[in-house]
Amino acid sequence: MAKLWGGRFQAENTKLLEQFNASIPFDYKLWKYDILGSKIHSKMLCKIGVLSEEELMLIHQGLDRIAKDIQDNLFNFDIADEDIHMAIESALIRDIGEVGKKLHTARSRNDQVALDFRLYVLDSNQQIQQLLITLMQTLLEIAKDHIHTIMPGMTHLQHAQPVNFGFHIVAWCMNFKRDLERLSNSYARNNYMPLGVGAMAGTPYKNDRDMMAKDLGFIAPTLNAMDTVSDRDFALDLLYDLSMIAMHISRIAEELVLWSSYEFKFIDISDAYATGSSIMPQKKNPDVPELLRGKSGRVFGNLFALLSVMKGLPFAYNKDTQEDKERVFDSVETISLSLEILNEVLNTMSISKENMLRMAQVGHLSATDLADFLVRECGIAFREAHHITGKIVAYAESKNQDISMLDEEEMLGLDSRIKKGVKAVLNLEASMNARDSIGGTASIQTQKQIETLQEWINHYNEK
Ligand code: ARG
Repeated sequence: MAKLWGGRFQAENTKLLEQFNASIPFDYKLWKYDILGSKIHSKMLCKIGVLSEEELMLIHQGLDRIAKDIQDNLFNFDIADEDIHMAIESALIRDIGEVGKKLHTARSRNDQVALDFRLYVLDSNQQIQQLLITLMQTLLEIAKDHIHTIMPGMTHLQHAQPVNFGFHIVAWCMNFKRDLERLSNSYARNNYMPLGVGAMAGTPYKNDRDMMAKDLGFIAPTLNAMDTVSDRDFALDLLYDLSMIAMHISRIAEELVLWSSYEFKFIDISDAYATGSSIMPQKKNPDVPELLRGKSGRVFGNLFALLSVMKGLPFAYNKDTQEDKERVFDSVETISLSLEILNEVLNTMSISKENMLRMAQVGHLSATDLADFLVRECGIAFREAHHITGKIVAYAESKNQDISMLDEEEMLGLDSRIKKGVKAVLNLEASMNARDSIGGTASIQTQKQIETLQEWINHYNEK
């Protein structure tokens, strides 16, 4: 079959070349954007007098028929067409004849692909923002129910200080808030319209790029033609943003794995989102969180793959950049699915307040409160108070007890400098609520954090 660009060629391409060179096996996913771009481009050609009104109508009708065929699964994506741009253009020429051959005036595949791919990236950016908002809302609903649920807060994965479960969930939620802000920043940075710059240097036609930018919903046309056809920063921005999301998901997934183990039993993942073992009948495995944790590998890999493709490329367009699409498609699809299923897991898991409290009662979580009491109420220097507390911890351990279980008399007997009222500060709830500084875990502070996040989400939804 003759190629659209075949004028100067005397021999046919081999099958092997076609297979190696083609992007249609994956870039068919851009078909909607390609058709949209062609409609806007032809409308502009009509405005500047390259196409008559009648020719424009024929082109638009032809493009609509192609869109319908693709939607109905009747379109033949042929590897001989190389890419989605030529597949649609040749289908148009087959359909409407000579007029179809005018469509590619004042356009190159270089600006065409830059447009299609940017539209895909920006759309995906917005879809993922929506998924993040849904997830944040789910997290806030959980947090709202648990501002009094005491659990052990950890550093080094060792018991540290008592916190409430809502506070822990707000910490997760903050990660996704930053992800969302990152996405909207990169959206704004890349919201410029590539079409109409031609192969690399502009075109001799009076392309009305302002009009196309407006019609396609961009802020403005891109500034420099050479940059426009060689730039893939918009794709890398998205891959980085998605990598950050993947990293956050993996940390949360790790906690879900830990928390659903017998050692913790803080949560129980719904049967609908857990799996069994083929040999051990008693097993209920957290496959979903494990996969969520594991998916970060491919998402980080996609970022690094495209960075490596772009490194050292001379300006302007190079075929290397055809390698951009599969990496981005894969990250977008992986993260979309991950966010959706994480949301489901969180919505359906059960939470054990009892087990959280039980685990908060071991590990001497209120030891810091005891030291603070010795400083505040007994006039002891902090270093010394730290030492006395350590001795009391050792005493409690020798009795196989948590310091919160010791009674007042017993403690007063351990050091003459200790004053009455010490028992009260060891209470877990009192300890948690004592952390009342801005951003602290006290139920009142957690409540404020939840309200602030809720307002932020409401404001986002109103935009
Ligand atoms: N399939 C190509 C890509 O994905 C489209 C641009 C090709 N341009 C060219 N002059 N060969 O990047």
